[in-house]
Amino acid sequence: MKLIYEKSKAGRRASTLPHYDLPKAEVPEELRRKRAPRLPELSEPEVVRHFSALATRTFGIDTGFYPLGSCTMKHNPRVNERLVNLPGFRDLHPLQDEDGAQGALELMWRLQEILAEVVGLDAVSLQPAAGSQGELTGLMLMRAYFADRGESDRRANVFVADTAHGTNPASVTMAGFKLQKVGTDERGNLDLEFLRANVNDETAGLMLTNPSTLGLFDESIEEVARIFHDAGALLYYDGANLNAVCGISRPGDMGFDIVHYNLHKTFSQPHGGGGPGAGPIAVRGILEPFLPVPVVAGNGERYRFDYDRPKTIGKVRGFYGPFGVFVRSYAFIRSYGPGLREMSEAAVLNANYLLARLKGTYDLPFERLCMHEFVLSARNLKREHGVSALDVAKRLMDYGYHPPTIYFPLIVPEALMIEPTETEPKEALDGFIQAMHAIAREAAEDPKLLKDAPHNRPVRRLDEVKAAKRAIVRYQFDEHPDMRGEPAEGEAVEAQKGA
Ligand SMILES: Cc1ncc(COP(=O)(O)O)c(C=O)c1O
Repeated sequence: MKLIYEKSKAGRRASTLPHYDLPKAEVPEELRRKRAPRLPELSEPEVVRHFSALATRTFGIDTGFYPLGSCTMKHNPRVNERLVNLPGFRDLHPLQDEDGAQGALELMWRLQEILAEVVGLDAVSLQPAAGSQGELTGLMLMRAYFADRGESDRRANVFVADTAHGTNPASVTMAGFKLQKVGTDERGNLDLEFLRANVNDETAGLMLTNPSTLGLFDESIEEVARIFHDAGALLYYDGANLNAVCGISRPGDMGFDIVHYNLHKTFSQPHGGGGPGAGPIAVRGILEPFLPVPVVAGNGERYRFDYDRPKTIGKVRGFYGPFGVFVRSYAFIRSYGPGLREMSEAAVLNANYLLARLKGTYDLPFERLCMHEFVLSARNLKREHGVSALDVAKRLMDYGYHPPTIYFPLIVPEALMIEPTETEPKEALDGFIQAMHAIAREAAEDPKLLKDAPHNRPVRRLDEVKAAKRAIVRYQFDEHPDMRGEPAEGEAVEAQKGA
């Protein structure tokens, strides 16, 4: 397919605006552009066709099953888009005074109250913009807490599981702690013996997601919490997997002191392509004085921003957080009401159905029931037919499915991490199962078919390292000097007429 610049024809227009008759703006010389903008020139039907063609090449949750483990790609109810577009929410300026923003503040306050209840903790800050920023904020709270107790020099270590998402060790390092890796035992739980031997008064805390990225609930979580609390350390819960436990168990009750939520996952938000996200955090009362400012305070009748927090770690994001995400998540939670538990139950049921139907065909590294996701291994296909998890993932695209997460968690060779979510009907799950079985048969009969996949997507197998390291994200005008809008040296710069 040609790029829009390659379709451009000099002088072609989608619409023609009256020529402006305003005096030229007083723009200082150094701020004036030296070249006219190099815009493609096309008629309206050409523009519409171009972008419609691109849209049909994109894969999203609205076009098909998207079992990307750990990312919780669930259906985003359309009614939430209507609510976020109510003028009172959509048109509100972030600098609006409190009196004029009571509705928005009330929504934020109510969301905080619900989120605190869901995880069984005392206070919430909505500010962080993503799970990873929630992690960093939570660890900054840990630092502030220990500094306040005069222990920050001593408490340097944070333990992270070897199944953790890459953002966990990155956040630990960014927050200035030393990383300590803790292994996983043969049942997929944390290595308790290691913790008993190594957690001490130099430990600041543990970062863990439960269920883990293996989709397994840690069977010793209360003992783990005891080990850390007995040493005076804190527990941080990575809430990326909260979709498994809402209304069933609460991180606060398990012993965690700080939690982040990925609102864009658990409480539904269109988040393909990396955004928009929100990573609120919840804390136990002992950490509340350190929360970022402002905190949204209220009494059920009037709401305000509270900046009067002498021990606060400060602000972690501009204004008050990603407000549109709050509206959608609030609407999503309220539409379930007290039945939020059904969401997690259905997510766990769907995952276990897939697991039960796929486990003979692909290796299952930990023989247990799973939570909302599970990890298979394609090592049997690799051993017997030379076919890798990557080949399986690419072939799935030919069958019309988004590949699962692959090669993560790192402790499982040839990992395929599958998360169906609660919003998929049984027929969709059955279709995926059939495709996975068909691919395993193809691996035995015609491995080259998988090695060369995908066959019927707009692009074939890419050099992924090159695509990531040398991504071409703008049109290479230097290679196309005949493009219109490239004035000769010294030529006057004039915007295209009607542009
Ligand atoms: C287990 C886990 N932790 C943390 C994160 C980071 O969350 P975010 O992408 O919102 O920064 C992710 C993201 O996928 C995750 O899967």
